[in-house]
Amino acid sequence: MLYLTLEKQLHAAVEAIAPGADLSDLQVRPCAEAKFGDYQCNLMTLARRLQRPPRPFAEEVKGRLDVGRWCEAVELAGAGFLNFRLHPEAMAAELQQAAGGGGLFFRPAEKPKTVVVDFSSPNVAKPMHVGHIRSTILGDSLARILRVLGHRVITDNHLGDWGTQFGKLLLGWKQKLTPEQRQRVTIDDLERLYKEVNAACEADAAQLEAARQELVKLQQGDPENLGIWQRMIELSRAEFDAVYQRLGVRFDYTLGESFYNPFLKQVVQELLERGIARESDGAVCVFSDGTLPPKEDPFLIQREGGWVPNPCLILKSDGAANYATTDLATLDYRWRTWRPDEIVYVTDGRQQLHFRQVFAVFRRWQPEAAAHMRLAHVWFGSILGEDGRPFKTRSGDTIRLSELLDEAEERALAVVNQKNPDLPQDERRRIARVVGVGAVKYADLLPNRQSDYVFSWDKMLSLQGNSAVYLLYAYARIRSIFRKGAEQGVTVEGAGSVRLETAEERALARHLLNFGLVLRIAAEEYRPNYLCNYLYDLAGLFARFFEQCPVLKSEPAVRASRLTLCDLTARVLRQGLEVLGIETLEQI
Ligand code: ARG
Repeated sequence: MLYLTLEKQLHAAVEAIAPGADLSDLQVRPCAEAKFGDYQCNLMTLARRLQRPPRPFAEEVKGRLDVGRWCEAVELAGAGFLNFRLHPEAMAAELQQAAGGGGLFFRPAEKPKTVVVDFSSPNVAKPMHVGHIRSTILGDSLARILRVLGHRVITDNHLGDWGTQFGKLLLGWKQKLTPEQRQRVTIDDLERLYKEVNAACEADAAQLEAARQELVKLQQGDPENLGIWQRMIELSRAEFDAVYQRLGVRFDYTLGESFYNPFLKQVVQELLERGIARESDGAVCVFSDGTLPPKEDPFLIQREGGWVPNPCLILKSDGAANYATTDLATLDYRWRTWRPDEIVYVTDGRQQLHFRQVFAVFRRWQPEAAAHMRLAHVWFGSILGEDGRPFKTRSGDTIRLSELLDEAEERALAVVNQKNPDLPQDERRRIARVVGVGAVKYADLLPNRQSDYVFSWDKMLSLQGNSAVYLLYAYARIRSIFRKGAEQGVTVEGAGSVRLETAEERALARHLLNFGLVLRIAAEEYRPNYLCNYLYDLAGLFARFFEQCPVLKSEPAVRASRLTLCDLTARVLRQGLEVLGIETLEQI
């Protein structure tokens, strides 16, 4: 891979100047604009770390570089950048290597990491709603990207299967359901039950107390309550699994919160014994230890101009552990069980403080483990309706994921019916399923994850513009070139050497080479949107190439080279969509 080669050369050059320097962040990136070159390396941070003036340092690195075999030019730019311009022959050679099965512009990681991805994690006895969609889709894509890069990925669905909602649900189950109803209960019944009991509890303190009693009994292991709770979990999981199946999402583990119950006491006790936690008003809490500047300290909060304690509660005054305690036990379990290099938590932005506190408590509790692991809270914003308010149904209810997918498939079917009325009905349905699910996923992955985005059916299913539909069409269009070629007896097999003669061919080639680099950056920053934009640009560059450069009608040597470009583009599109969790179609 050319970018890896350049990085190796850069490392060697810096090593010669500053032996033993930490080179971990010395990387090349694609140049934003082709006029500056193909790859760029920013040497400023490294120079600063070495206490060298950046520009002269970059100059010196450039002097030591030996990259003439691959680059026609290396230029010093700005305050400490190096820009590399590749030889067209070097590009062509790399394309040819990929065409010959040498990997799609990336190589599996030399030192694979073990990464736990904690995502989706809906709450039991509640239907999965769009709030969980981003976690499921983002988390799945991150897991796929990390996997394709050769890392050992462990996906874990941290189901919310233990919590105060069960007191009310148990009470409702006992009070409001007849034995027959209990036999046929659905997730909708549970939701209704919960709403009813919740309302009753608000109106009547005795009901609230009764619900609390049911919860206490569950927590103490009452067999009847445990049995009902188990039923509710099974019901919910069947519903969740149906959605996961539609989305093509799978988990290696589904260790819900309840799995950690046996460890909670121990966690609280250890934190108390080590003086990390202390009693406060009958509860047990972790306070600031004063080692962090207040701005970065998750146990402090600014109020009226001063900093006041913002403790992390780990044992409530009624003796119950909570969400944070469970997450601490979970972290400890994951460390003991899998020794991960990285744990990635995918949830909405409202949980930022929670994770900052949990990570900070863990660092104090198990500094060695914490030093070994990268703990990342990958958070995201909300999905808004076209009115700019939280996305709801017309009647104001939260929208269910399964209904959303139904609607996506229906709408996609309308598009397919229009475009391709002659296809057999089940073929049209199959296409609509892939397009509909793909459209929902892509719309979710495309925006910067930290911003809220407006859910728009029209944008999502638009044939122009940056959408899954557009990319799926681009892919199918390239595949149709090969079908047409095959009819004429032309195949990509035995393609001759790649020649990059026109500007369009070079632009497409240059972009293809960046696939691996973009995957790597998307994984490092946990941002699949980089990949979406990359694929969109790829489809655009391909369209321009295809407009300007005849493929099947060219003379054989040119045709073979261009067919190779077509094939590589299709393969990158397919692989790229696959790691976004989106299936491709040979024909739409
Ligand atoms: N069940 C939680 C929710 O729906 C998300 C859990 C995320 N994972 C974790 N380890 N806390 O908000």
